[in-house]
Amino acid sequence: MTVVDPAAKLCRLGTHRVLEPAGALPQTAWKLDATAVAYANEILCDVEALNVDSASFRQIVEACAGDEARVRAHVQSIVRERGKQHNPVTGSGGMFLGRVRAVGSALRERIALREGDRIASLVSLTLTPLQIEEVTRVDMAGGRLWVRGTAVLFESGLYAVLPDDIPDDVALAVLDVAGAPAQVRRLVRPGQTVAVLGADGKSGILACAQARERAGPGGRVVGIAPSAETAGARLLVKHGYVDTFVAADAREALGVLAAIPDALPQLADVTINCVNVPGTELSSILCTRDEGTVYFFSMSTSFTAAALGAEGVGKDVTMIVGNGYSKGHAAIALQTLRDHPPIREHFIARYGTPAR
Ligand SMILES: NC(=O)c1ccc[n+]([C@@H]2O[C@H](COP(=O)([O-])OP(=O)(O)OC[C@H]3O[C@@H](n4cnc5c(N)ncnc54)[C@H](OP(=O)(O)O)[C@@H]3O)[C@@H](O)[C@H]2O)c1
Repeated sequence: MTVVDPAAKLCRLGTHRVLEPAGALPQTAWKLDATAVAYANEILCDVEALNVDSASFRQIVEACAGDEARVRAHVQSIVRERGKQHNPVTGSGGMFLGRVRAVGSALRERIALREGDRIASLVSLTLTPLQIEEVTRVDMAGGRLWVRGTAVLFESGLYAVLPDDIPDDVALAVLDVAGAPAQVRRLVRPGQTVAVLGADGKSGILACAQARERAGPGGRVVGIAPSAETAGARLLVKHGYVDTFVAADAREALGVLAAIPDALPQLADVTINCVNVPGTELSSILCTRDEGTVYFFSMSTSFTAAALGAEGVGKDVTMIVGNGYSKGHAAIALQTLRDHPPIREHFIARYGTPAR
C-alpha cells in the first residue's frame, strides 16, 4: 500500500494525504491515504458512527435494491477504494461521530481537544481519510452506519465536541445539516414569505423552525414535501412551524406550480431546497418571486439545471449554493433543537438509537 512519507511537508489542508491525482485537494482527490496515525498537524479518531449524507444514502440504498447487507458492502468498498466515504455518483459524503485517539504534536498546544473527547466532524466525509474495519449495524431509515474504524481530521478540519444535554445520535443528525438552519437565520427577514422544499426531513424541519422565528407573526412559512401524513409533516402543522403544508412532488414542476397559488399567492421571498432527490431546481425557482432568493441546500442540486432553468422561465432570482459551513452553525442548529421541544422530541424519536 502507498502511504504518506512522514518526512513530507505537512499541509494544513491535508494535501499530504492525497494519493491521486497529484496536486489535488483532499475533497477533489480520487484517493486518500487513510493510514491510522496522527501526523503532527492531525487528529486521529476512533470512529463509532457515520451519518451518510441523505442524497448519497438514498442513491446507495437504491443501487443496492434496499438490501442492508449490500449497503454495508457498498459503503465498505467505496471507503476501501478511495480512503474516504465519497460517493462517486452523488459526489457527497456525510460526517462521523467518534472519540479522539491522538492529537498531533504540533496541535497539542493550540487546541483544547484531548484524547478521549467525543466529537462529531463538521467537515465532509468526502475529504476525511477513513478506514472501516467493520460495519456493526445500519439504520436503513436514518442513513447511519455504526462502525469500527478510524478517521483523520486535518489542521483545517472543523469538529464539534458533543453536547451533554442532547443524545449523541440526535446531535449527529442535527450537526449533519447545521448549515441549513444557520443560513435560514441569515437570509430571512421579518414579514417575509418562506417556502421550504423537503420540509419534513432533518434540514427541512430545522429550516422551518428558523424561518418561523425570523419571519415572525407577519411572515408566512410554507412547507412542501411529498406527503402531509409523515410524522415530520404533522409536527410542522400541529406546532405552527408552517402556515400551510403542500403535499407535492418537487420533481414535478408543473404540479408544484398548480399546487401553490393558494399557499403562495405572492410567491416566496426566500425558498429553501432541502430535498434529497435530483430534479427539483425548477420547482424551487417557480416558488420564488422575481428578485427573490433560492437557497439550494440539497446535494442533489445541479448548477446547470438551476442556471438554465431560471433563465428558461425568465426568473431573476438570486441562487445560493448551500455551503455546509457558516460561522456558528453548529451552535445555532443545536440551539434550534433546545428552543423547540416538539422538534427535539421528534428528532429523538426519529434519530435517537433505540436500545437493543
Ligand atoms: N449543503 C450541505 O452542506 C448539506 C449538508 C448535509 C445534507 N445536505 C443535503 O440536504 C438535503 C436534505 O438532507 P436531510 O438530511 O435533511 O434529508 P432528509 O432528512 O432525508 O430529508 C429529505 C427531504 O426531502 C423530501 N423529498 C424527497 N423526495 C421529494 C420530492 N420528490 N419532492 C419533495 N420533497 C421530497 C423528503 O420527503 P419524505 O420525508 O416524504 O421522503 C424529506 O422531506 C440532501 O440533499 C442532503 O444531501 C446538504
